[in-house]
Amino acid sequence: MKKTTDLLSRSNNDKQEAKKAINTLQEQIRYHNYRYYVLDDPVLSDGEFDRLMVKLQALEDKFPELQSPDSPTQQVGGAPGTELSSVPHPTPMLSLQTVYDKDEVKNFDKRCRENLNKEDIQYMAEPKYDGLAVELIYDKGRLSIAATRGDGQTGENITANIKTIKEVPLVLIGQEGIAPPDRLVVRGEIYMLLDEFKQLNEQRAKAGEPLFANPRNAAAGSLRQLDPKVTAQRPLHIFLYQVVQSEGHSFKTQFEVLQTLTKWGLKVNREKSQLCSGIEEAIDYHQHLAQIRDSLKYEIDGVVYKINLLSDRQELGFRTRNPRWALAYKFKPRQMTTSIKAIEVQVGRTGVLTPVAILEPVRISGVEVSRASLHNQSEIERKDIRIGDTVLVERAGDVIPYVVKPITEKRTGSEHIFHLPDQCPVCGSEVIMSEDKKKALCTGITCEAQLRKRISHFASKGGMDIEGLGEKMAVQLVNSGMVKDLSSIYQLQETDLLAMERMAEKSTDNLLQAIEASKDKNLSNFLFALGIPIVGEHLARVLCEYFATIDDLMKASQDKLFSIKEIGPEVASSITAFFANPKNLQVIEEMRQAGLSMSNPYYTKESFQPLAGTSFVFTGTLEHWTRDKAKQLVESLGGRTTNSVSKETNYVVAGPGAGSKLQKAEELNLSIMNEQEFIQFIEKHQKKGQ
Ligand code: IVH
Repeated sequence: MKKTTDLLSRSNNDKQEAKKAINTLQEQIRYHNYRYYVLDDPVLSDGEFDRLMVKLQALEDKFPELQSPDSPTQQVGGAPGTELSSVPHPTPMLSLQTVYDKDEVKNFDKRCRENLNKEDIQYMAEPKYDGLAVELIYDKGRLSIAATRGDGQTGENITANIKTIKEVPLVLIGQEGIAPPDRLVVRGEIYMLLDEFKQLNEQRAKAGEPLFANPRNAAAGSLRQLDPKVTAQRPLHIFLYQVVQSEGHSFKTQFEVLQTLTKWGLKVNREKSQLCSGIEEAIDYHQHLAQIRDSLKYEIDGVVYKINLLSDRQELGFRTRNPRWALAYKFKPRQMTTSIKAIEVQVGRTGVLTPVAILEPVRISGVEVSRASLHNQSEIERKDIRIGDTVLVERAGDVIPYVVKPITEKRTGSEHIFHLPDQCPVCGSEVIMSEDKKKALCTGITCEAQLRKRISHFASKGGMDIEGLGEKMAVQLVNSGMVKDLSSIYQLQETDLLAMERMAEKSTDNLLQAIEASKDKNLSNFLFALGIPIVGEHLARVLCEYFATIDDLMKASQDKLFSIKEIGPEVASSITAFFANPKNLQVIEEMRQAGLSMSNPYYTKESFQPLAGTSFVFTGTLEHWTRDKAKQLVESLGGRTTNSVSKETNYVVAGPGAGSKLQKAEELNLSIMNEQEFIQFIEKHQKKGQ
């Protein structure tokens, strides 16, 4: 071979020679990549390999016009895109029928044998990788498209990202007389090694970035990046396991597929794939993999059986969602016991409080687990999980670990029952809990945990409609310390905004104008914008019909609120808790001072008191409404309720079990209604006000 260094030093370099040298170097590097990444059997030292890369890079720098997009020097990631485009799959990417027990595996085999009319079937047993399925398309030996599974029909185009993975050859190689086909469509799984995943998360923790829940999410997140340079930094790997199209080369068996793919430079997992001569052998292999699962460097969650003979597969065909010739036999989910040291409360960006169990660290499927979500108070009570309990924790491979159940036999009596706090651990505001105890919300408008979300909600279309104040802007404003609560939005100055990233004079002006214009928004928009838990746009409008000003609403008792037809006890207590919080009142006052109009064009219920001057007495039991609710309804329509019957009483509502009051009403000849009549009476009067 010609010495490439000589070529570099010559000034009148012949382009033709450079081209040849580049081709040779590319070929050599591809081969050594293949030895290293696919066969895991390098024949060059790292230093020697690096020297080849440096030479190639130098030549390509000198002759940029000779650099091809599939040169090994290009596997570092190109320019970022704006979104991932979609690509249709040549044939749908289906899923697999999944089973968890041996009998179902035997049934599968029996069905296959019956349909094929065979005594025995050979199966290829492969690990079921817990990664992300991808499709690679090679045209004339060159990688042209890589796509995710997407909805099975159409995937996302991740070609630029896939090209950064060293184990994915950009150009196929031909060996032992088997040339790569004209067109090859292959599928496989992208995954991350467990220890590389751990390292990545450690780096992210140091950088203050959110952690990935598991290697699969990390792989998926890395692949679906808009910037391939980010993907290039992530430790991604691939195993190919299926050929969908191969023009110019046909296969007889899955075994041959795996063998040939390796020859073309594609990485398959021959080491852990086993040809089984019958279903018993295949089941044994499942047991074997389950045993060695913990010692593997990557996560697998079962075994995939595929009929080896491709002609048999063709005969069996497909169901709507999966092939008849393959089966996933999953491992039992991984569970370990450990203990709950404490229960921490996290406040999410929407103000939701989530209890999180702090566990005595335990390794489950190669990942150390020290926290598990307990979801909500109802879940804790349903499972009777206590602080100090020994618990069964499950990491299903794909989700954040969770506590399956407490081992009650191990209780010593020193465990504590846990309740979510009444006050937000971040800001100290009152927490309101839904009746089913599945949702606990912080009512603090100034709560730091929620501020970003609150700001973008405040500025949203249905709220104060401040264009230019979306979530990204809110993050910037909060991070810069310029916005500490909602009222600081109205204190923003031009100079503050100009100092921020991506804010030019024009955008600053627009934002300030939008903020100014928002001051004229009416009370209904403002109430919605405040983000009072469970008060959406519709309820904000209803409240405006009943309360002329925000001050009237602030003063409203729970009873008064409850008497409004559309307002139930949860909304009523959410509103009163919100306005009982002095910090919230202060922020509202500051906004009032800033000049917010809070005008109310919807107030209509002022003089609607059709029952004014009418008094009611209730006796006996009510079934449809509680006695309290019935009284509030009467009062909301201007009527009065009393406890004793007199000649001033206009109506007596009598339910089952009514006694002396009913008797007296009869004696006085008063109007008496049963509950059904009362309901109709109230509804008739309510309608008049609508
Ligand atoms: S073959 C028709 N082989 O499992 C489907 N799939 O449930 C043929 N998977 O989305 C797929 N390891 O992501 C096959 N050795 C393996 C696999 C495997 C993991 C995944 C794949 C697919 C899912 C199907």
